[in-house]
Amino acid sequence: MRHRFPFRRQVEFDIAVMTSQDCQEASRLHATGFTRPWSDGEINTLMNKSTVFGFIARPEGGREAGTAMGFVLAQLAAGEAEILTIAVAPDGRRQGMGWRLMGAVIRHLRAEGAEALFLEVDETNAAAIALYRKLGFGEVARRDRYYGDRNAAKSAALVMRLDLG
Ligand SMILES: CC(C)(COP(=O)(O)OP(=O)(O)OC[C@H]1O[C@@H](n2cnc3c(N)ncnc32)[C@H](O)[C@@H]1OP(=O)(O)O)[C@@H](O)C(=O)NCCC(=O)NCCS
Repeated sequence: MRHRFPFRRQVEFDIAVMTSQDCQEASRLHATGFTRPWSDGEINTLMNKSTVFGFIARPEGGREAGTAMGFVLAQLAAGEAEILTIAVAPDGRRQGMGWRLMGAVIRHLRAEGAEALFLEVDETNAAAIALYRKLGFGEVARRDRYYGDRNAAKSAALVMRLDLG
C-alpha cells in the first residue's frame, strides 16, 4: 500500500504486512518507545500465533532491513481485537505514521468482520491517548496502579474501545 495524506509534515512511506523477518527491526523500534522492550524472540513468538498480525512502515523505497520507522501488532479472536503494541521511532513521530499504522489495522479488521478493537494505554501517555481519541476510541474501563515498577508511583491503565460495526 502507498499512502499520501496531507499531514502537517508531508512524509511518504509504505506500510506493509509484517512478517517474521521484521521481528528484529520491530524489537529495535519497540525499545525506543517502552521501558520494558520486547526481544525479537518475543515478537517472533507472537507473530507465530495464527491470531496475531501486524504492519510495518518504511520510508518510500526503503525496503531493505534497517529502515523501518514504525510498527503495530494486533490480535483478532472471536470477533474482538486488541492492539498488542504500537511504536514509531522518535524521529518519525508526529508525521502521521501512528495514524496510518492504526488505520491499516482497522481496515484489516473491518474486512475480517471484527466487531470491536480494544487497547490498554497508560493514563500518562498523552500522545497515544490523543491518537486513539482522534481515531474514535472511547474509554471503557480504568485499572488503577497498573503501570510502573515497585519503586515508582504507579499510573492507571485506560482500557479504550473502538466500535468497528
Ligand atoms: C503513540 C505513537 C505511536 C504516536 O505515533 P505518531 O506517528 O507520532 O502519531 P501521528 O503522527 O500519527 O499522530 C496522529 C495524531 O495523534 C495525536 N498525537 C500524536 N502524538 C501526539 C503528541 N505528542 N501530543 C499530542 N497529540 C499527539 C495528534 O492528534 C496527531 O495528529 P496531528 O499531528 O495532526 O495533531 C508514538 O508517539 C510512539 O511510538 N510512542 C511511544 C510508544 C507508545 O507510547 N505506544 C503506545 C502505547 S499504548
